[in-house]
Amino acid sequence: MAKQKVLVTGGCGYIGSHTIVDLLENGYEVISADNLFNADESALDGIEAITGQRVLNYRVDLADRKAARSVFEEQPDLAGVIHFAAFKFVGESVQKPLLYFRNNLNSLINVLEGMALFGVPHFIFSSSCSVYGNARALPVTEETPWQEAESAYARTKQMGEHIVRDFIRAQPGQQSILLRYFNPAGAHPSARLGEAPTVPATNLVPVITEVAIGKREELVVFGNDYNTRDGSCVRDYIHVMDLARAHTLALQRLEAGKDREACEVYNLGIGEGVTVLEAIAAFENATGQALRYRIGPRRPGDVEAIYTNYDRAARHLGWTPRYGIEEIMRTAWAWEQARTAVTS
Ligand code: WQD
Repeated sequence: MAKQKVLVTGGCGYIGSHTIVDLLENGYEVISADNLFNADESALDGIEAITGQRVLNYRVDLADRKAARSVFEEQPDLAGVIHFAAFKFVGESVQKPLLYFRNNLNSLINVLEGMALFGVPHFIFSSSCSVYGNARALPVTEETPWQEAESAYARTKQMGEHIVRDFIRAQPGQQSILLRYFNPAGAHPSARLGEAPTVPATNLVPVITEVAIGKREELVVFGNDYNTRDGSCVRDYIHVMDLARAHTLALQRLEAGKDREACEVYNLGIGEGVTVLEAIAAFENATGQALRYRIGPRRPGDVEAIYTNYDRAARHLGWTPRYGIEEIMRTAWAWEQARTAVTS
């Protein structure tokens, strides 16, 4: 049977590149579209080193309607699209909301328009736990009511979900799955792929590995006066390879026609809340590297605690996480060492 061809937008990015590896290993043909704004085509080298396959990347700005259309014109036989391409820095989105609305929403709209024009049936949207805001009750489930978005980034994910739902309602031949990520972290076990931000990292795990390898002076823990077991914030860290696998399973569910509704939603976290101080301890235990850090003021926009229940993904996608915080830290550290060896 001919391979199903999938377009992965943001395919040179962190989650996109790891998802491409899982798709290729599950027999898909994959095309990437990524303008390399916050990514590097070296991710394609990592994918090739791991899978032996060279993925074509269209270097286009998907927020440009004609450029987005051109990808579908050149690839008219797509079986599905997995849409990662978006700006994702929470702090930056608070400073530059229009940049985030224009980029994240126009890219999404242009991709959906291309799907409608060329009859691409399956769509998977990269959503986020940030749609819940400061959730009142934990763990959150897919039915947990949304609170006010804490940033323009989170708002683009809330609005994005509504846009996808309304689009799917108007397109009877198409189905979609919305995947709400918690805190993606870690790297491919080969250390050939990982988080490679082109701008200074702001997420906890890459900051930890940059401090450990000496690229940064110290780690500042943003607050230890929260109402949590050790005063630091709680998050649900999910290994990027577990997250990648969930995308393949979601696509297979759509292809098998098993989706119960035209637009299903799944939370993707491992159901364990880990505090910042516990994450630091996990890094030290997993790597034997002592970490310099100090307690600083709270970071505006941070929620105190959030973690999920993944029962629905287990039941309907057959997905369960394989890795925890120790493997996240071990693979993130191996990637940081490999990445630094190459660039130094
Ligand atoms: C985690 C914790 C910080 C850096 C991210 C993405 C968002 C979404 C969810 C996908 C917080 C603390 C961090 C540092 C620290 N992902 N921290 N010192 O803010 O939960 O959100 O995951 O959609 O897009 O931004 O992740 O890694 O920035 O912070 O103390 O130097 O680590 O306060 O409690 P966050 P993060």
